[in-house]
Amino acid sequence: MKFEKLFEPGRIGTLETRNRFVVPPMLTEYAAADGRLTERYIRYYEEKAKGGWGLIICEDNSVDPYGAGFENLAGIWSDDLMAEHRELVRRVHAHGAKIAVQAYHAGRESDSAITGRRPVAPSPIQDPTERETPRELTTEEVGNLVEEFAQAVRRCKEAGYDAVELHGAHGYLINQFVSPFSNKRTDRYGGNPRNRLRFPLEIIARAKELVGDDYPIIYRISADEMVPGGLTIEDTKVIARQLEEAGVAALHVSAGVYKSGAIVSAPSSVRTAPFSDYARQIRGVVSIPVFAVDKIAYPELAESLLEEGKATSSPWAGPPSPTRSSPTRCGTGGSTRSFPASDAGRDARERSRGKRRSRAS
Ligand SMILES: Cc1cc2nc3c(=O)[nH]c(=O)nc-3n(C[C@H](O)[C@H](O)[C@H](O)COP(=O)(O)O)c2cc1C
Repeated sequence: MKFEKLFEPGRIGTLETRNRFVVPPMLTEYAAADGRLTERYIRYYEEKAKGGWGLIICEDNSVDPYGAGFENLAGIWSDDLMAEHRELVRRVHAHGAKIAVQAYHAGRESDSAITGRRPVAPSPIQDPTERETPRELTTEEVGNLVEEFAQAVRRCKEAGYDAVELHGAHGYLINQFVSPFSNKRTDRYGGNPRNRLRFPLEIIARAKELVGDDYPIIYRISADEMVPGGLTIEDTKVIARQLEEAGVAALHVSAGVYKSGAIVSAPSSVRTAPFSDYARQIRGVVSIPVFAVDKIAYPELAESLLEEGKATSSPWAGPPSPTRSSPTRCGTGGSTRSFPASDAGRDARERSRGKRRSRAS
């Protein structure tokens, strides 16, 4: 069979998927201004499920009403918002796909023009690409944010999501804590690598208290921040092992932060799968699944990454973008050479490029 590896069933901890095609989180801005999911948002992901994807990771959903860096961002900060999430999960499951959601807070990349509040961050350091200087979080506020993330995970499990992905990449709040590029704290959340990792480790530990050890928590990581003084792949290999020890079920390997520019979501002129070697290196130090992402532009390439073992021990990778060419079409010999971004992805990409040139989400 063509694409044998891609069509093998997959496993992430206790979660089983029908194949290894993964839709990565991709902002649509289809939610309502108050964070509620709309019918358009639900239908968008329902179409992915119909197309045969194994696992759909929904775009960044904010754990805090003041954590948004984009307009029309979906929210998971309150139990009152979850009825539509339950409906989304029900409709995706009806077509055999599994569904996860990405839990996010933008930290210093949030925008007071959207949230009405000054951004907060581990340290009061302005991102070189941003116009606002964030306010430094107090130690007590950091603890509150740990609880907000963990309660969001609990909410998502109760809504039926099969997993939650923590957005620990691309220079957002979790990444800001872990990185010496953005964290200059002197309390227990800064000062050395172990302290800088404390924020995500506490989120994972508290979430596990609420949802149990078996509920899969995926962690998206920027393997190399590509900025002077930022995390490198060697730092990330150490972090990856600590995340595995903390019980993370899979690692989703991206790269870059805002300052490193368009590479986070590179234009199609960029050579294929530029981050796959990071995935290979991380895979070499952990035994949990590792997802590769970025410019895996056609399924032949995804299949070859799995064959080469670049993506995981029970290999995982996926044509990353929402696509018109679906897994179902691959399976029936349909057109596979190109995996163009969907209209939603393209529209959001245009908007985010226009508004903030280097943002990717
Ligand atoms: C419009 C747009 C929205 C994105 N939204 C998210 C997001 O919500 N969360 C995230 O972690 N990455 C996000 N990304 C990054 C993608 O998940 C992916 O890592 C990146 O686009 C590289 O894959 P590609 O080459 O297939 O586009 C976004 C990228 C684009 C272009």
